[in-house]
This record gives sequence, C-alpha cells and structure tokens, in this order.
Amino acid sequence: MKALQYSEYGPSSVLEVVDLPEPQPPAGKVRIVVRAVGINPFDWKVRKGLFGDTTPSRLPVVPHSDVAGVVDAVGEGVTGVAVGDEVFGIAVGGGAAERAVLRFWAAKPAGMSFAEAAGLPNVVETAGRALDLLGVEKGQTLVVNGAAGGVGIAAVQLAVARGAAVIGTASERNHEFLRSLGATPVTYGPGLPDRVRAVAPGGVDVALDTAGRGAVADLITLTPAPAAVVSIADFDAPRLGARVTDGSEGRAWQTLAEAAALFAEGRFTMPVERTFPLAEAAAAHDLSESGHVRGKVVLAL
Ligand SMILES: NC(=O)c1ccc[n+]([C@@H]2O[C@H](COP(=O)([O-])OP(=O)(O)OC[C@H]3O[C@@H](n4cnc5c(N)ncnc54)[C@H](OP(=O)(O)O)[C@@H]3O)[C@@H](O)[C@H]2O)c1
Repeated sequence: MKALQYSEYGPSSVLEVVDLPEPQPPAGKVRIVVRAVGINPFDWKVRKGLFGDTTPSRLPVVPHSDVAGVVDAVGEGVTGVAVGDEVFGIAVGGGAAERAVLRFWAAKPAGMSFAEAAGLPNVVETAGRALDLLGVEKGQTLVVNGAAGGVGIAAVQLAVARGAAVIGTASERNHEFLRSLGATPVTYGPGLPDRVRAVAPGGVDVALDTAGRGAVADLITLTPAPAAVVSIADFDAPRLGARVTDGSEGRAWQTLAEAAALFAEGRFTMPVERTFPLAEAAAAHDLSESGHVRGKVVLAL
C-alpha cells in the first residue's frame, strides 16, 4: 500500500511516499480504507525532532493519527461496527497510508465529508479532556485563547453545547467566524484582560489556553484562581499555578461520539482550510506550521 513516511527528523522535505505492507487489525481494533488524514501540530513537531528521539521511539515513521475512512477488516472481539461502515478515529502505527488500524473510532455522520471527519479526532478529544479538567458547566463563562484553531473551535462548540458562555480570542479576520460558533470574539495579544473584561462584566470562571504563546499570566488575572486556567500548549504554566493536560485520551470514545451527534444536529462544525494529495504532504505540514490555519489542513487519499 501507498504510505507517507520519513526516515530522519527534519524539515517537511523528509516526507516521502513509499510502498509498505498492509497492517492487520489485532483484537479490539478495526482497519479502514483511509479516505482522509487530518494534520495536527503534534505531527510536524515530532517530524522536526522537537520531542527528541523518544516520540516516536523508532524511525522510520508513518506520521499522523487522525483518519477517516471505510472499515474493511474487524479485529477479534470488536462489536458495534462492521465492514463497510464509515468511521473516523485515532490510528495506531501511522495513519497516513491507504490502510490504517484504529484504536478509537466513531461513526461518521452521513452529512459529514471524510475530510471534515479526519480533522476531528485529536482536537475533539483534547478539547473534551481540557473542558472536563476545567469542569466547564452550564452558566459558567469560559475564555478560550486561540479559539480559531482546531482545538479552539472544538472547545468553543463543546462548551457552548454544555451551556457555557464562551469568549474566544482570534485575529480580527476570524471574529465573524467565532460569532457563528456562538462565542464572543476578542483579539489576542497585549491588553487581553481589559478586552475580555469589557465583554464579560460578570467575570470569567475558567480559561483554556490552546495557543501556548505566553497568555497564561493574563488569563490568570481574569479567573478566581490560577488553577482555573488550563493550557494544552504552555508546559511552563504550572509555575504560575495554572494546570496543563497532555494527550491521555481520557474519554476519547464518548467525546468523538458527542461531536458526531452535535454535527448531526447542526451544532458542530470543523472547517477544512485546505486539502492536499498525499504527494503534497510537505506543503500541508508547512501550512499547518504557519500557525494561522482556521480549522484543519487535511490530506485526501
Ligand atoms: N496537550 C495536548 O494534549 C495537546 C493536544 C492537541 C494539541 N496540542 C497543542 O495545542 C496547540 C494548538 O493546537 P491546534 O491543533 O488547535 O493548532 P492550530 O489549529 O494550528 O492553531 C492555529 C490557530 O492558532 C491561532 N493563533 C495563532 N497565534 C495565536 C496567538 N498568539 N494567540 C491566540 N491564538 C493564536 C490562530 O488564530 P489566528 O489565525 O486568528 O491568528 C489559528 O487559528 C498546538 O501547540 C498543539 O501542539 C496539545
């Protein structure tokens, strides 16, 4: 099968399309014919070697774990899914290939494209995990710093669905979009606390930082206590008393299904900024790394 691979850490030019044997689904997992692959910042950070040689531990690497496609083989003991079902989920052992083995999945709603579905797994799981850690609930006011990125968009919509009032930061060009998701937009950068207070006269209960660009101290000034701030991208945040969360895939099964159900009700969307063929994966990685994608960058197979 055709697969994306790299044999050394480095710039996007290390990515190449190669021929590999098809994986078989072990017990408890399913295999899909991959139709689309979602790109996350984690993927190009690993490719650049930013996590050293521990993540992943061995080269060569087939990158990407967010995929959507059609089930073509079911491992022993798996129930509730059959060959021919359209699903999206998180792959083990590399998703950017014609076949991938999934460890978490949910049914793809009929009206959702494979590209949209492939953009969901990691950002939805992360957003759900962060909102759980913050204890976001009805009646609270939440600030999402970095609300126009993949995790931010998912967090805004999951929080709105929980009944929270959401203030989201983004550059000006994304403000109308954030309004369409049900959030009140403000611009990030110096002076953020004043701009948030101006739209939240009743105060802010909790804050989520997805951007990791030095806003945690500002967010702490807005919340009742530092621990009411969670960052997914600034791992120095605990020094200020805020909390961080790292990919433990807490309630992945439930959160993917929750997003699919909200999509089917017209209450969840994840824009695909651009789709690339597998052979242009390097350009797709570079676009994601540019840091200003609205929603997702996707590879189509
Ligand atoms: N800890 C975990 O478990 C976990 C899980 C998933 C992701 N992450 C990390 O979380 C971060 C976000 O992931 P993502 O998938 O959401 O990334 P993404 O989709 O690439 O985020 C892009 C967004 O960031 C916004 N942005 C850029 N500069 C900003 C700033 N200074 N302040 C606020 N927003 C800014 C942009 O908005 P504008 O275009 O409007 O500027 C853009 O919409 C990444 O570093 C990723 O590695 C961590």
